[in-house]
Amino acid sequence: MSTHHAPWWRDAVIYQVYIRSFADGNGDGVGDIAGIRSRLPYLKWLGVDAVWINPWYRSPMADHGYDVADFREIDPLFGTVAEAEQLIEEAHQHGIRVIPDIVPNHTSDRHAWFQAALAAGPGSPERERYVFRPGRGPDGAEPPNDWVSAFGGPAWTRLPDGEWYLHLFAPEQPDLNWQHPQVRAEFESILRFWFARGVDGFRIDVAHGLIKHPELPDLPPRRADDGRREHVDHPHWDRDEVHDIYRAWRRVADEFPGDRSFVAEAWADTPERLAAYVRRDGLHTAFNFDFLMSSWDAKDLRSVIDDSLAMLGAVGAPATWVLSNHDVVRHPSRYGRKVVRRWTVNEPYRPEGPLDLELGTRRARAAALLMLALPGGAYVYQGEELGLPEVEDLPEQVLQDPVWERSGHTDRGRDGCRVPIPWSGRSAPYGFSPDGARGEPWLPQPEAWAELSMEKQKRDERSMLALYRAALRLRHEHPALGDGDLEWLDAPAGVLVFRREPGFVCAVNLSTEPYPLPEHTSVLLGSGPLEDGVLAPDQAVWLATDAFTPVPAA
Ligand code: NOJ
Repeated sequence: MSTHHAPWWRDAVIYQVYIRSFADGNGDGVGDIAGIRSRLPYLKWLGVDAVWINPWYRSPMADHGYDVADFREIDPLFGTVAEAEQLIEEAHQHGIRVIPDIVPNHTSDRHAWFQAALAAGPGSPERERYVFRPGRGPDGAEPPNDWVSAFGGPAWTRLPDGEWYLHLFAPEQPDLNWQHPQVRAEFESILRFWFARGVDGFRIDVAHGLIKHPELPDLPPRRADDGRREHVDHPHWDRDEVHDIYRAWRRVADEFPGDRSFVAEAWADTPERLAAYVRRDGLHTAFNFDFLMSSWDAKDLRSVIDDSLAMLGAVGAPATWVLSNHDVVRHPSRYGRKVVRRWTVNEPYRPEGPLDLELGTRRARAAALLMLALPGGAYVYQGEELGLPEVEDLPEQVLQDPVWERSGHTDRGRDGCRVPIPWSGRSAPYGFSPDGARGEPWLPQPEAWAELSMEKQKRDERSMLALYRAALRLRHEHPALGDGDLEWLDAPAGVLVFRREPGFVCAVNLSTEPYPLPEHTSVLLGSGPLEDGVLAPDQAVWLATDAFTPVPAA
């Protein structure tokens, strides 16, 4: 364990389990709780501190679980509440904490509240828990405003009774009205339900979206000058009033023993706006999407790192670092493009131009060492430790992400980063499902993944898996890593070098020239072979500058 005495969430490495695609215990081709339980020994071996599990609640799966019909039930596809309790207990026995997802911005259209709202009709108190409005135009045939769904098309759907309801995502995901006291009370009760069952925290879905401008005005004109400031004073994103909700949630978490914590999925325009979520009486941490959206460029990365540390440090919150998740193109495929441009929440990254996966993988290895050496916590998306690329050639007929349909087949959506994990063997399902499974994996796995399976990489000390495991081990052992500060050292353009005390230096070469290593007593870990004491382009290294003897790997 780390020698720090700070709460665990200040520097935890949290492994993201996209439950549908992690491990299938019952052989139906879809991952489940039984599968996660069977892989806990692997996660312990890998060395992660916690798992974040994408939504497992009862759901019609219009958005793979982000459309929740009952927050106090587990979907039968994934298991039962009793199995979830077993998982939490077993994970704790393995020293791994468990953080489920909570989805407060919207429910499923099959949720009892929405069904009641439909049945009760216009003007009813049942409709007040959601956002229902009459339409515009003489016969109300136009939506109440011009808001758009994040999945494409208008954010409003009209009912046969003439009223419209708001959904910032799919029509099957009606937005809740967070001005309503019952909505607030219900979610506090759901948090308590799961905290009482032992969960260590929650990842909060669309944490920046809950509060809407009371008058629901049209969107402001797009600011052409600065794509990064789209959310400032926006009618439904990142409104200041949202923080009251999280102050109340913090009080709920604090009712329970043992450092329960929240991580916000908040897409804020600037580090200052993000820091507002993690004040001492608010949430504990927030994903740092600026890091994930950065280009592969030393200046860009350094400014993201500096701004994040400064803004979060000013409110006493730790930074978190993330390279991939279930919503974005996997980073070996992002970094394997000739031009790796910075992208924004308004203009998500879509692969362009030919892929050089070898280059992308080399950079992904370097990025892992950068991320895991930075002060704060980090997220590892399942399969990232295997170096899985985005699956860019899924046949159209298998695509399931609602984005594909809602965009009128112009955007293939997020299925390419959600393909089931290859665990072992030479052919699909690569140990994802048990032998003799009755179902095929819910998305097809590429043939090339035989080379990337966990078992195969376990036997190869140069594999991505070996790199992640060694890095996670060192992170636990080395007193300089985890929570704390960093100090930049002088380095040529395109090279990032920073020191952390005691006695640790990380160097990342994003330039096209070899970089002679700075002074050190030993090399702790390199993302690639180091020849003649130089760091090749697109490589990173961890160095000791004091005596440090890592415990040999078990
Ligand atoms: C963000 C989640 O990460 C994404 O997968 C989901 O589609 C939306 N929120 C809507 O809940």
